[in-house]
Amino acid sequence: MAAFTSTILITGGTTGLGYHTTLLLAQQFPSAKIIIASRTDKDNAADTLNKLVQKQQKSSKTSSFAQIEYLPLDLGSTSNIRTFVQNYASRSYPPITALLLNAGLQYHSGDDLRLTPDGVESTFGINHVGHALLFFLLKPHLAPNARIVITSSGTHDPEQKTTVPDAVYESAELLAHPTDKDGYAKKSKGLQRYASSKLANVLFTYALDRRLSTARETKNSSTTSWTVCTMMDPGLMPGTNLGRDFGPVVVWLFTHVAVHLVWLMRLLVGSQNVHLPQESAANLARLAGMRGEEAQRSAGKYFEGRTARNSSVVSMDEKKQEDLWRWTVEFLARDEEEKRAFETF
Ligand SMILES: NC(=O)c1ccc[n+]([C@@H]2O[C@H](COP(=O)([O-])OP(=O)(O)OC[C@H]3O[C@@H](n4cnc5c(N)ncnc54)[C@H](OP(=O)(O)O)[C@@H]3O)[C@@H](O)[C@H]2O)c1
Repeated sequence: MAAFTSTILITGGTTGLGYHTTLLLAQQFPSAKIIIASRTDKDNAADTLNKLVQKQQKSSKTSSFAQIEYLPLDLGSTSNIRTFVQNYASRSYPPITALLLNAGLQYHSGDDLRLTPDGVESTFGINHVGHALLFFLLKPHLAPNARIVITSSGTHDPEQKTTVPDAVYESAELLAHPTDKDGYAKKSKGLQRYASSKLANVLFTYALDRRLSTARETKNSSTTSWTVCTMMDPGLMPGTNLGRDFGPVVVWLFTHVAVHLVWLMRLLVGSQNVHLPQESAANLARLAGMRGEEAQRSAGKYFEGRTARNSSVVSMDEKKQEDLWRWTVEFLARDEEEKRAFETF
């Protein structure tokens, strides 16, 4: 442990975008411990990544301190997240200089409403609620200059005309607990729930950035340098496991065939925003690695790849941002003391 001076924590670092980003960050920041966290690590991603890093460093010696480490985390369960953070805290890692809230999933099949053990619609629960709790509980472990980067998606924005149904946001309560009474459960099928959860990522980022900006202006807190931005859209990425709910054939085509036909996919979806995960990982690693003025300039911005651009019109709605923030804090905080801790910057 003594060899490392900082920590980078990346959710969903075991596959896809997170895996490739971890590799780049490990090369770029050799003195950083890197924690990758997800529900499973069936392919021993941490081991493979450590070997790749060592090979690229052309080191013949095996380090006794593995740079990349896997810790199990289920963002769909608030009790699991609390256990994860206790486990994390007991290991005395150096302060977190970059927190990448990147894990995500989507359900394609059926209209069935899937709920987390806490009774929240699963896509919203994992992609937004779980990440929010992880952030709140990890606050005491963040370094004064920490970067927080949240992976969203162009699917949050109807103007982008992705093939995914438009995101909907009436209230956080309705995303968490869709009801048939107002037709919300029905119209909100799997991919639409995904788009809405990615909209929640953007709304939450703006609400958090507002609080961090105020803290920076008043300059009386240890958190005043934290900067948060969304990497919006890594773009459509053939080669990741995001489409696993579509079934094994589609996953095989997406991971083995589509990766060689990026140009064709660009034609088919009518957009240049199709990238291999390695390419998008370079953009995500760049955002996570920003420091100083560059980091401050990127605060509260939404990026498509390397370019800051406007997120959707709905995501700019401050009332919706605050509705989501309030609901999230109320839902997650165990008591008034914890609520105050979550809200203090
Ligand atoms: N692929 C695309 O075309 C695309 C486009 C735009 C945005 N994105 C975004 O990019 C991010 C990464 O996705 P990807 O494409 O790299 O997909 P991926 O290959 O499926 O990676 C997703 C990662 O999230 C983890 N994860 C899923 N559910 C989790 C849970 N409940 N708790 C903890 N970890 C969980 C997965 O591990 P486990 O399943 O083992 O937990 C995996 O490590 C996501 O936020 C996604 O929305 C992807």
